[in-house]
Amino acid sequence: MDPMDRGIRYTPGSSDKDWEQADTFLPASDNQKLEKKRGPGKVGIIVAVVTLAAVLALIIGLLVWHFHFHKDLKSQKIYTGSLRITNQVFVDAYENSDSAEFKELANQVMAQLKSVYSESPQLSKYYVRSEVQAFSEGSVIAYYESEFAVPAGQEAAVDQAVNSLSVNKFRRFEEKQGPLVFDHIVSSALDTRLFSKGRTSMRFTQHAKSSAEKIITSPGFPDKPYAPDSFVQWQLRGDPGHVLKLSFDTFNLEENCSNDFVRVYDSLVAVDKHLMEEECGFYSPSNPLTFISSRNVMLVTLVTNKEENFPGFRARVTQISQDSSELACGGKLSGTSGSFKSPNFPSYYPPNKTCQWDIEVPDGKYIKLRFPKFMVSTGSLNHCSEDYVQIVGKSTLCGQQPANTMVTVNSNKMTVVFKSDSSQVDRGFNATYEVFEPTDPCPDKFQCDNKRCVNPSLRCDGWNDCGDSTDERNCKCDASMIQCRNGFCKPMFWRCDGVNDCGDDTDELNCGCKSGEFQCKNNQCVSEKLKCDGNRDCKDGSDEDGCSRDMCKDSTFMCSNGKCITKPNPMCDGQDDCGDGSDESNCNCGKKAYTKSRIVGGQDADVSEFPWQVSLHVKNTPHVCGASIISEQWLVTAAHCVQDDAKIKYSQPGTWEAYLGLHTQKEKPKSTKRLIKQIIPHKNYNSYTYDNDIALMELDSPVTFSETIRPICLPAATDVYPAGETVTISGWGATREGGGGATVLQKANVRIINSTVCDELMSGQITSRMTCAGVLSGGVDACQGDSGGPMSIFSNERMYLAGVVSWGDGCARRNKPGIYTNVPKFRAWIKEKTGV
Ligand code: ARG
Repeated sequence: MDPMDRGIRYTPGSSDKDWEQADTFLPASDNQKLEKKRGPGKVGIIVAVVTLAAVLALIIGLLVWHFHFHKDLKSQKIYTGSLRITNQVFVDAYENSDSAEFKELANQVMAQLKSVYSESPQLSKYYVRSEVQAFSEGSVIAYYESEFAVPAGQEAAVDQAVNSLSVNKFRRFEEKQGPLVFDHIVSSALDTRLFSKGRTSMRFTQHAKSSAEKIITSPGFPDKPYAPDSFVQWQLRGDPGHVLKLSFDTFNLEENCSNDFVRVYDSLVAVDKHLMEEECGFYSPSNPLTFISSRNVMLVTLVTNKEENFPGFRARVTQISQDSSELACGGKLSGTSGSFKSPNFPSYYPPNKTCQWDIEVPDGKYIKLRFPKFMVSTGSLNHCSEDYVQIVGKSTLCGQQPANTMVTVNSNKMTVVFKSDSSQVDRGFNATYEVFEPTDPCPDKFQCDNKRCVNPSLRCDGWNDCGDSTDERNCKCDASMIQCRNGFCKPMFWRCDGVNDCGDDTDELNCGCKSGEFQCKNNQCVSEKLKCDGNRDCKDGSDEDGCSRDMCKDSTFMCSNGKCITKPNPMCDGQDDCGDGSDESNCNCGKKAYTKSRIVGGQDADVSEFPWQVSLHVKNTPHVCGASIISEQWLVTAAHCVQDDAKIKYSQPGTWEAYLGLHTQKEKPKSTKRLIKQIIPHKNYNSYTYDNDIALMELDSPVTFSETIRPICLPAATDVYPAGETVTISGWGATREGGGGATVLQKANVRIINSTVCDELMSGQITSRMTCAGVLSGGVDACQGDSGGPMSIFSNERMYLAGVVSWGDGCARRNKPGIYTNVPKFRAWIKEKTGV
């Protein structure tokens, strides 16, 4: 009912006569009498006419809906597929879809497909059309798409009917009447995003000939970003007896694959069962992205959505003879040690590949096999039935395995089989084998429970060298080490530092705080004054437990006077929300905000945990480097981030945009963006040694500090950081060596490493302008994309910029710490250039 209607009828004394007539709502002592008095007269006729008209309108409406709109409820379903025609011979003209030969064969295929569909009640009803898109050799493979208009609710039944169109059905059919013999049919529904309304669609074809390489680029590359809302396909071919190799030398797409993506297929049409890989984001040229097909065809598709268009890609297409040694794999291996790898390692292995290595070592010896890297696709089923490495008689591996996974056999023979199926490829593996004596599996070394052998000097050194911690069990520790109750030894300088290094808290027990200090639950000591001050000063936050602030549960801030503030981000916004100024005090450097803590899994930073962290982007591209805010208008970053290369003028302020107050790269629009007015790289920066790797950036306009944007404190020129001190690194860089960047800001704690030790580990490359920090057993480090970002150290209740992420040997490798620019050494220089 229309609410207006009700309102008027209930209004006493309304002047509208007609409404007043509707007096059924008025109190009546005798309803029957009232009705009788009015009788079936005028009103009755009006009611009857109105009812009739309403019924008629309903019927007409239903008919119109049925015949006009109802058909719109059908959805368009497109299936792509390939089938082999065994009784035809490929002729060159089939490569050209305009040739008479192509058209003739395509018509025959379409006619035969139509008849096949007509045999299925489900498919015949909804069939719209088919189109042959290409042919390739072998005898002849036809690539086609078929369209169906499927009523709502029938999609699953149609999917099933298409999937069950077995080879047999086609055979039965053509035996009856069709001239073509079909074999090996693969089809699947095409992703609806690829044919959505308004999407521009383009198709290119390329035939790689023996010698020359062909280049394909996303439309507009390198002058402008790829177009929005487009679907571009590149059908690539090679000569018979060849496979294709596609090597991306630039790859820069939006980071979220559900928006923009490139897919590579081992086919000429986009059929899921031949999808090799979907890629998005950014790949640096040092991280090769190459694919090899299993036959002489390949399809590359680029799909983009409306928003955020990136530079795109450039790739080279070459053909490789199927007998080429580049594709060879497997064979006999002997001797006492050796190595082998999956085809095309460290880039993607081809689909449909089987390799077998037969290792035979001298009689009486046993074999130990180690995989430094192992990435084999598990496919959709997530078990090792699709792609796998089988150590015959021992184990089958797939997925991603930890570095240096080890398998041993108590025999002098070992057979290793690698198999990839028709879809979803990965980067594969490298493997090394060596012999061991049955009586002495680890000559002169310590044998871990996981069969790894480690140098005896690494036993009980506080680091987990085995990977299963067995080198750190049952240790008798010397005086420089803490004896943990659980048998581990940990360096003495980790005692009472607030981190549970032993794993059973022994290193944090009986730390006894001085008077005026508060003992945190983790036994760390912090000044008594910091208890209940709204900041998590104990690393476990226990100085804020049980404070009256807990009564401010739905608040964003608790004032010193006990008042709870509910407005978002009240701190440091220029307004005295508390009335006692406590929300506006301490708005200077190095303070973390007290937000309602939003603990996210793993290594994700909390929102506003590093309000000085900046994400530097080359305009309209993803994150490139980190930086730190040191004042309203100045950032500190790494000099190596602002060096020109052949393509991009990184040294020019106009190249960059800085995002401040950013937490996840997805929320760029919500953060504060600034352009850069001036870049001052250190004049002694050495691009070969990375010495003096520091630069300053001046923002085009000052920023207002808030809860999410604040400066970090600069250390004094005299500050030195003792080995063992915990520092925090943060950034959106790669989360594993060779991997892609993080979306959410990541953080990790590492420790300062003694410079002499570090210099030895890094083959003499450490200067006094560098500081080393890391976890020597590996696994925690900065990585590509973290450069320029802060290494923060906590001191005097504030965070100080101890270092700038600079370089490393790979990422998170054992005994390879991260190298940071030593900021105290540049304190005077920063003052001179910025006045800060
Ligand atoms: N140079 C790298 C970058 O540009 C940072 C490397 C840091 N590496 C490390 N292992 N700590 O992002």
